Parts: sequence; structure tokens; C-alpha cells
Amino acid sequence: MAFLSSKSMHLNQIFRSNNILLLLPLFLYLVICSPPEDPIKCSSKNTNCTITNYNGMFPDRSVCRAAEALYPTTEEELISVVATATRNKRKMKVATHSSHSMPKLVCLDGQDGLLLSTKYLNHTLKINVEAMTITVESGVTMRQLIDEAAKAGLALPYTPYWWGITIGGLVSTGAHGSTLWGKGSSVHDYIVKLRIVSPAGPEKGFVKVRTVNLGDEELKATAVSLGVLGVISQVTLKLQPIFKRSITFLTKNDSDLGDQVLSFGDKHEFADITWYPSQRKATYRIDDRVSINTSGNGVYDFIPFRSTPSIALVSIRATEDIQESLRDSNGKCAFAKLTTAVLRKTAYGLTNNGKIFTGYPVIGYQNRIQSSGTCLDNNTKLTVCAWDSRVKGEFFHQTAFSIGLSVVKDFIKDVQKLIELEPKALCGLEQYNGILMRYVKASSAYLGKQEDAVDFDITYYRSKDPLKPRLFEDILEEIEQLGLFKYGGLPHWGKNRNLAFDGAIKKYKNAGEFLKVKEVYDSSGLFSSEWTDQVLGLKEGVTTVKDGCALEGLCICSQDSHCAPSKGYFCREGRVYKDARVCTRYRKSKL
Ligand SMILES: Cc1cc2nc3c(=O)[nH]c(=O)nc-3n(C[C@H](O)[C@H](O)[C@H](O)COP(=O)(O)OP(=O)(O)OC[C@H]3O[C@@H](n4cnc5c(N)ncnc54)[C@H](O)[C@@H]3O)c2cc1C
Ligand SMILES: *[C@@H]1O[C@H](CO)[C@@H](O)[C@H](O)[C@H]1NC(C)=O
Ligand SMILES: *[C@@H]1O[C@H](CO)[C@@H](O)[C@H](O)[C@H]1NC(C)=O
Ligand SMILES: *[C@@H]1O[C@H](CO)[C@@H](O)[C@H](O)[C@H]1NC(C)=O
Ligand SMILES: *[C@@H]1O[C@H](CO)[C@@H](O)[C@H](O)[C@H]1NC(C)=O
Ligand SMILES: *[C@@H]1O[C@H](CO)[C@@H](O)[C@H](O)[C@H]1NC(C)=O
Repeated sequence: MAFLSSKSMHLNQIFRSNNILLLLPLFLYLVICSPPEDPIKCSSKNTNCTITNYNGMFPDRSVCRAAEALYPTTEEELISVVATATRNKRKMKVATHSSHSMPKLVCLDGQDGLLLSTKYLNHTLKINVEAMTITVESGVTMRQLIDEAAKAGLALPYTPYWWGITIGGLVSTGAHGSTLWGKGSSVHDYIVKLRIVSPAGPEKGFVKVRTVNLGDEELKATAVSLGVLGVISQVTLKLQPIFKRSITFLTKNDSDLGDQVLSFGDKHEFADITWYPSQRKATYRIDDRVSINTSGNGVYDFIPFRSTPSIALVSIRATEDIQESLRDSNGKCAFAKLTTAVLRKTAYGLTNNGKIFTGYPVIGYQNRIQSSGTCLDNNTKLTVCAWDSRVKGEFFHQTAFSIGLSVVKDFIKDVQKLIELEPKALCGLEQYNGILMRYVKASSAYLGKQEDAVDFDITYYRSKDPLKPRLFEDILEEIEQLGLFKYGGLPHWGKNRNLAFDGAIKKYKNAGEFLKVKEVYDSSGLFSSEWTDQVLGLKEGVTTVKDGCALEGLCICSQDSHCAPSKGYFCREGRVYKDARVCTRYRKSKL
């Protein structure tokens, strides 16, 4: 899955190319699915509800409840709903049509809260061709925005690679594409105006609607707000005239990756790198703007974001489960190589004309290349997005952090040292198409990136059993701690396991300014929860200490019981980063 992690495997092709998988007894699992379900489920009409994320489970497996879910269809309705809830001192959270963030930002404490879904706030309100701006309601998806802008001859230059997310949700978590050029790749840095609906006192009718413009100090808070300032109802973004891009994927060995990473991002406007550390390879995306009259009508329909037969997902998952239980690292490495080879051969889903791939470079219009997600429209009963929790398919953890350019080379070298010690350790994540490395720039948003950086996006196997250790879990935990703590990486707000947020807020120099704005917008914290208070440093308890807590990233282990001593996993120091504490199987000697 993807990039997101987006890195899943390219399951369709694997399915076709590896018939062995078909021998598994999978039919039992087939269910009727697609399109993706609403993440909100209510036992009776809009009341007594639960909400989850797109993979069906939050990092700490909490079940999040709400007394009611409402689906406003206009800004007026939204305003009146927020006013009523504020008058009743009711907690609220904003939900989207498909809840693509992993952490439980959308969770309400207790059972009495209200979910406000932006599912029907999905209209494009205005396109101003002269000013090159688009104004949309916050529930509009990336895909709709791209299409509408293109119809007017315009484009958003840098976007997340998955088009299923909403404008309101993606700016709230600081989502981005990849570039070091211009204002960088974070969508929120292209906001020229937004409207946000927040609680207020009785004198104001219990609700206040603010229009925040580019240049207003408050935009620094509202641009990336984790949903705690109120409901964003509309967003206006700055666009550019549509353009074409020319893409070539080039795979090389990774021995000079640390040196390449800086210059590569300067050289190519849409550069990114996918790193396969155990294969000692890196795939460079050589991707630049070209003249609009350059011929080419390429399309990027990223294979991991295409629909996949449920049966293939089930068989791949079953294979992964077996490899895990047999500790079959060779099997994982072979599977990873196959996955990577098939993806490379199929150009990851690029085609020169929308149908077939005939060779690099692939040249095409921005709107047909910047983002994808065709699994959202395949409505057959038997195919789904790879992470659909209605199928017993992919189930994974995500670790995603950005590391400042000044130290990124050292981080890469440390990971390479770990691979020297344990060459097969990262085959597991290569099954999810490796580590995606993308460029992000410093932002003026208080909770945006603090410096120019490389974002590392890692997706990896998660057991359905929270107390079951993973193959080479120690190496992944060490990489997570290297990135987040030794190199001070900033966790992506919309991804990650709980421990990534431990102390994260202290890495933002203007976090205090954010909290001041929060106090003004929502002084009684109706849009906050225990979790958002913890993440924002207002409460203790981002990590939870209990038996086995380190296995799912709920804590960093400090004693053996936080790992799985009965299964031979003990808490030990890292191998390259001595301050790391990881669950390891190989070293019995005490810390
Ligand atoms: C397959 C996949 C690919 C991805 N690719 C990328 C990528 O390329 N780059 C990247 O940076 N990220 C990526 N992500 C992460 C994604 O961008 C974030 O998780 C994003 O927040 C998801 O948006 P959403 O619309 O699903 O919002 P949700 O996850 O539903 O909500 C996120 C937060 O925003 C709040 N919120 C939502 N709407 C509003 C609103 N209108 N007003 C106020 N608060 C609101 C919610 O309460 C919640 O706190 C990917 C995720 C997936 C699943
Ligand atoms: C609420 O839903 C849960 C299942 O999610 C159910 O067990 C419970 O009985 C329901 N409560 C009410 C009051 O309907
Ligand atoms: C808005 O979303 C609803 C529900 O998913 C859908 O039926 C409708 O067609 C969408 N409207 C637009 C303008 O896309
Ligand atoms: C990696 O590639 C470089 C050339 O790009 C080459 O000089 C080097 O020997 C290669 N290293 C390995 C281990 O293959
Ligand atoms: C493309 O357009 C540019 C001007 O925008 C012109 O200089 C160039 O010759 C054109 N190229 C082709 C192949 O038509
Ligand atoms: C749906 O997915 C299947 C399997 O990947 C594919 O063969 C089919 O062409 C897809 N259909 C559409 C309409 O995209």
C-alpha cells in the first residue's frame, strides 16, 4: 500500500505471474465489496455509531464511538449543526468519506460525541481562471479538484499521490507530494483562503465562521490544524496553468544514495526516490516539467492503487502470514524481488498513451500523472483497494517522518549499516514497494515542516494478533527511532504508530502560537480529544506502557515484558543507535 504508504505491491501482476499463490484455499474469504465503505457505521439511522480508518483499525486498536453522525450538505447546515452542538456542550470531530489517516485523530472520547462528515460537502464552488484559483468545499477529493482544475486549463503543481483524500483532511494533516522547488510540495502552502466554522459563546449564537486569507497570521494555524480548530468548510487554492511532465524511472545500486539524495532533489522538479535497502537498490524518479507542445499523452495509474482481486489479496496475505510464522526471510526476499521486478517492468503503472507502456520517458499532462487511485471506482464484487478491511488482505503499520536535509545523509548511512549487519531485514517492507522518499520544504504553518527535508514513508506487515512479534522487528524499530529521535524527524500527522508522536510537538518552534489560536477558536476544546491533547503536548500519555506494548508501537520498550519474552523477544539496545530500545530475538544478554 502505498505510498502511503503508498506502497503496496503491485498485486494484480503478482497475482497473474505467480500461480502458486492461487493454490491456497481462499474462496471462503470472498466477500461482496467495493466501493469502499463509509468509515462511519451506525446501528440505527445516524445514531450509536463507530468510526475507524481506511485499514479498519487504529494504531492502538481503539474502538471509537459517537452518539451521532451528521452529514451536512451545505455550509449553512454545517454552521447550524456546530451551533447546536456547541450550545449542548457536545464534543465534535470532523470525519471524511473515507478516513484515510491512520492515527485516531478523528476519535471522540466516550460515547456521546458527534461526528460531522464532509461526505456531501463535495462541490466545486468557483474557478477563477484569471487569478488561477479554485474554491472547493472541504469534502472535495483530490481527484475532483484535479479534474475540475484541468477542465479550466489549470493544475495544482504538487499533490499527494493518492487522489482519494479530501482537501479538508489532507491540509489538516500537512499532506504533500514531492519537490524542493518553489513553495514546496505541501498542499497547505498553496492555500489563498479558507473558511472555518468554530464554536463561540451565546452572544454570537454559539458559532463563528472565519474567513482566513493568505497573509493573515491565523492562516499559519488554520492551514495545518489536525481538525482541532473547527470545521474547514471551504478552501481556495492557488493553481498554475496546466503543463506537461516527462518521467523516467531509473534504478541504480544504492551505494551512493546518501550523496545523491540532495543533488537529485535540486535537479528535478518532481523528483522522488524509492529505496529497496535489502536489494541495495534505489529507483530514481527523473521527472520534470516540459513544454506543453511536447508530444505525449501519458497516464500514471499507479499499480498499487488499482483494484486488486480480493482473492489475490487474501493469498498474498496468507503467504505473508506463513512466511512470518516460519521466519522465512528467504521467502520474503524472493517475494520482494519478484514484486519489485514486476513493478519495474510495468513502469509502476505508467503508460505512454493510457493503454500501454512502450518506453521512457513517459510524457503527459499533469492532471493525468500527478495522482491516481482507480481502485476507488472498480465496482465489481471481487476487486477492491488493497487495504480494504472487508477482505482479509493487507494489514500494516506505517512509519513516516521527514528528516532535515542537513542530516539525511547520516540517517541513510545508519540504515545502510543496519543492512550490513542484517542483509535480509528489510525484504518485508520491500514487499510493500520499499521506502518512498519525497522532498518537502519548510512551511510557515505552525504545524508544517520546520525545514527542508526528505520524507521517508515505510509500510510494513502488521499481525492481526497484537502480541505477535514480527520478523526483524528490531531493525524496523531501530530505523523508526533513528529517524524520529536521533535525527529529529517530524512524523507525518496522518500516518504513524503512537510512539512517533512522543515529544513530537516540541520539534515545532511555534507550537505555542498554534495553541494560542486554538484557545481563541475553541476555548472549551469541543473539537479536541484526549488523543489530540496528548499529541499537542497538553496531556501526558501518547505512549502506553503494558505487556507487549512495543510490538505495536504503543511504547518504546524499557523492559522485556514490553516485548514478547515468552516468544523469545527481549528489550535490547539498538545495534547502530545505542540509545534505541528494540524488541529483538537474537540477543539474550541483558541491556
Ligand atoms: C492510499 C493513501 C495514500 C496516501 N498518500 C499520501 C501522499 O502521497 N502524501 C501525503 O502526504 N499523505 C498521503 N496519505 C496520507 C493522507 O494524506 C492523510 O492521511 C490525509 O489526512 C487523509 O485525508 P482524509 O481526507 O482521508 O482525512 P481524514 O483522515 O478523514 O482526516 C484527517 C484529519 O483531518 C480532520 N479533518 C478532515 N476534514 C476536515 C475539515 N473539513 N475540517 C477540519 N478538519 C478536518 C479530521 O478530523 C482528522 O483529524 C495517503 C493516505 C492513503 C490512505
Ligand atoms: C449500539 O451499538 C452497539 C453495536 O455497535 C450495540 O451493541 C448496542 O446495543 C447499541 N446501543 C443502542 C442503545 O442502540
Ligand atoms: C458528492 O458525494 C455524494 C456521495 O458520495 C455523491 O453521490 C455525489 O455524486 C457527489 N457529488 C459530486 C458533485 O461529486
Ligand atoms: C554501484 O554503482 C556505482 C556506479 O553508479 C559503481 O561504481 C559501484 O561499483 C556499484 N557498487 C556496487 C556494490 O555494485
Ligand atoms: C514548443 O513551443 C515553444 C514556445 O512555447 C517553441 O519555442 C517550440 O519551438 C515549440 N516546439 C515544438 C516541437 O513545436
Ligand atoms: C476492475 O479490476 C479488475 C482487476 O484488476 C480489472 O481486470 C478490471 O479491468 C477493472 N475494471 C475497471 C472498470 O476498472
